[in-house]
Amino acid sequence: MRRLEGKVALVTGAGRGIGLQIAIALAREGAKLVVNDLDEAPARDAVRALEAEGAEAICVVSSVTAPEFPDRFVEAALAGFGGIDILVNNAGYIWNSRIDQMSDEQWGAMLDVHLTAPFRIIRRLVRHWKGLPAPAPDAGHRKIVNVSSISGTHGAAGQAAYASAKAGLVGLTKSLARELGPDRVNVNAVAFGWIETRLTQEIAGETFIDVGGRRHRVGLPKPALDDLRKRIPLRRGGSADEAAGGVVLLCLPQSDYISGQVVEIDGGLAI
Ligand SMILES: NC(=O)c1ccc[n+]([C@@H]2O[C@H](COP(=O)([O-])OP(=O)(O)OC[C@H]3O[C@@H](n4cnc5c(N)ncnc54)[C@H](O)[C@@H]3O)[C@@H](O)[C@H]2O)c1
Repeated sequence: MRRLEGKVALVTGAGRGIGLQIAIALAREGAKLVVNDLDEAPARDAVRALEAEGAEAICVVSSVTAPEFPDRFVEAALAGFGGIDILVNNAGYIWNSRIDQMSDEQWGAMLDVHLTAPFRIIRRLVRHWKGLPAPAPDAGHRKIVNVSSISGTHGAAGQAAYASAKAGLVGLTKSLARELGPDRVNVNAVAFGWIETRLTQEIAGETFIDVGGRRHRVGLPKPALDDLRKRIPLRRGGSADEAAGGVVLLCLPQSDYISGQVVEIDGGLAI
């Protein structure tokens, strides 16, 4: 049984990694997808992968931090599919350093992508929803899922900016769960631990990714990953597919009575 048949879902940062798997998992439940990524080629590849799953999909190529992005994203969904039921704020990256080395630009970039962009996208979406006639009493719930991190819920050395933004996203989630609950909108967050993507890959030397024309060091050396494995009760990192599974749970009708929660998807690392 496909539990999201006919629903329209928006996923940011869906060109790769966890976001791509979230989009695919939602498509397998029957949703139509509007995917976003900063990088054009992965965004277009994501649309092809979703179509190969039998889903309808379109993409909006942009940084989520662009002020005009929320309008473009919401309007593309309305033009393509006529409505919006689910939003997953997933786009993001890491830009780490110790506090004494941290620039204002770095601090601002982390807050912009992980906190201000989700705020603006949700604001635009809620303005759309508020403009619609009240849903029928038996209409399903709408869902917002924000992607946080256990760095945000527990802190992480070297990640003051990233962790502050991800913690802020938890405050946004809980406040909006209270504010939007009466309109039958569920707002939850997931906080990932170590999920195997390009951000957390095992590296021998230095590995970088390009984000919006800037290079960022990513990856962890084998000894650090071995140590992490020992501290995770399940003794391994999670796959992007497993991470997506937790997000999809919060998008299904089966989770209609769950709101304002932060689900730590970390193999038990942070308990
Ligand atoms: N991998 C982990 O262990 C882990 C842990 C905790 C939280 N997270 C969070 O999960 C989310 C996804 O991370 P991932 O590991 O899949 O990373 P990833 O780099 O594999 O994928 C992230 C995607 O987001 C896109 N992106 C980055 N900045 C963007 C922007 N400004 N606008 C639009 N798209 C943008 C990238 O181009 C990329 O395709 C991020 O918010 C990250 O902070 C990941």
